[in-house]
Amino acid sequence: MKLDRGGGVVPLAGLFVLLLPVLFPSLFAPLGHASPSMLSEWNAPKPRHLRLFKSALQEQTSNGLESDLWMPPANQGWKTCAESTTSMLPENSQGYLQVFLDGGLNQQRMGICDAVAVAKILNATLVIPLLEVNPVWQDSSSFMDIFDVDHFIDVLKNDISIVKELPDEFSWSTRDYYATAIRATRIKTTPIHASANWYLENVLPVLESYGIAAISPFTHRLAFDNMPMDIQRLRCKVNFQALSFVPHVRALGDALVSRLRYTLGKNEVAGTKYLREVTDAKGKQGAGKFVVLHLRFDKDMAAHSACDFGGGKAEKLALAKYRQVIWQGRVLNSQFTDEELRNQGRCPLTPEEIGLLLAALGFDNSTRLYLASHKVYGGEARISTLRKLFPFMEDKKSLASAAERAQIKGKASLLAAVDYYVSMHSDIFISASPGNMHNAMVGHRTYQNMKTIRPNMGLLGQLFMNKSMSWPDFQQEVIEGHKTRQRQLRLRKPDQSIYTYPAPDCMCHA
Ligand SMILES: *[C@@H]1O[C@H](CO)[C@@H](O)[C@H](O)[C@H]1NC(C)=O
Ligand SMILES: *[C@@H]1O[C@H](CO)[C@@H](O)[C@H](O)[C@H]1NC(C)=O
Ligand SMILES: *[C@@H]1O[C@H](CO)[C@@H](O)[C@H](O)[C@H]1NC(C)=O
Repeated sequence: MKLDRGGGVVPLAGLFVLLLPVLFPSLFAPLGHASPSMLSEWNAPKPRHLRLFKSALQEQTSNGLESDLWMPPANQGWKTCAESTTSMLPENSQGYLQVFLDGGLNQQRMGICDAVAVAKILNATLVIPLLEVNPVWQDSSSFMDIFDVDHFIDVLKNDISIVKELPDEFSWSTRDYYATAIRATRIKTTPIHASANWYLENVLPVLESYGIAAISPFTHRLAFDNMPMDIQRLRCKVNFQALSFVPHVRALGDALVSRLRYTLGKNEVAGTKYLREVTDAKGKQGAGKFVVLHLRFDKDMAAHSACDFGGGKAEKLALAKYRQVIWQGRVLNSQFTDEELRNQGRCPLTPEEIGLLLAALGFDNSTRLYLASHKVYGGEARISTLRKLFPFMEDKKSLASAAERAQIKGKASLLAAVDYYVSMHSDIFISASPGNMHNAMVGHRTYQNMKTIRPNMGLLGQLFMNKSMSWPDFQQEVIEGHKTRQRQLRLRKPDQSIYTYPAPDCMCHA
């Protein structure tokens, strides 16, 4: 299962979790959503690091530890240069290229960028990519429901030709057509991270014979290394310029951002607007600023990590059972003890732990935190310690009315799109677990020189295991261990994803 070549920072198992729905869709259909009557699988999770937590609560007065806490990264001598592609539209199209994309929003996003690149390599006309319905997230939103399709076509108009739909003569080329039999126009065996030559040798002949080629699966199918520079830059141009969300997602995102910056949604009940100026933060360094915390802590993640999250015996049993049903012993992590996993940094941070990390880094209880997340395993009980440290913690629900959220309700991709948008407008982004969202933000925010904190999972795992650690020692270790994990631009290494590390391929020396 060596699919993770792209993320680099993602432990294999982490990416495996994210790919599971793709790999074993049938397993997910019946189990993807826990039954509504959440039987008590855990004894309400209590703080696990009570000593640290109590100290963190007391020490919260802004101690000015890091005066540059909110500062954006310094100019590091890089600027974007994806714009400067001077490519030419091919005179003759070799035919239509169709791709079918699995995964959640961020995985599909990379697939779209790669599809444009492959169309360019082949001089093909790209059909707007088809987004498969993910068995876990169950969202049937199409490309056009999520992204501004006219903007997409317009930004790329000098690079490749794009059509919204196939012309009538090819209208037979549908998902159902390929699902029901072996078809000559389907490319089914694209290797992971295939080279440009692979496409020229294997897909071009199909285009030439039939005028169309449909690639499925297509996720993670284009190499990051040994690609022509103009192809790399084109991929970044798609990711960072051509892909813009539909207007209603951007409008909701803008509303959330402005409420985070200028008002407090605290005590705001849907319908009864209770907004007030941020007076208490006036004059402080973090005034008007906010942190986005991405917290993916659902049952899949918790179970797959095989870590102990403090919910007691009931929780351990529930997670072990879930592992058995879904993965039938294929979860490699489960052969390690909790201590080993923590030492290796393989356990997603709990809401409590990420709260302690933020507090140790110097964020105090006036910090506005936006929680980008879907359901948290363990619910509010699991989040409450984090909320005690950061009472001004908001999310889509607390900041926007039901009417405002109506258009995105229940649609995982649109909910994720709003979180993506808000995250890209935050002063600081941090994620409690490595994964696609974390990688997408690391890449996009590097591109725009915005601050992203990358938790040192291994260090934190070790610190949290030391039950006698004092707060000052914890804080010092945390600060020391994150000095180089907040603002340094990191250059892409071989095999790593251009979408996580856009320099040097898509960035130039200023
Ligand atoms: C923040 O912490 C300080 C010091 O512990 C306390 O006095 C203050 O009431 C807290 N503010 C909020 C909003 O909880
Ligand atoms: C694509 O078009 C360019 C420029 O027109 C040409 O040099 C190249 O050989 C073409 N490649 C293919 C695969 O058609
Ligand atoms: C735990 O932390 C304390 C400092 O707070 C340190 O003296 C001690 O050596 C640590 N124990 C382990 C096992 O690392």
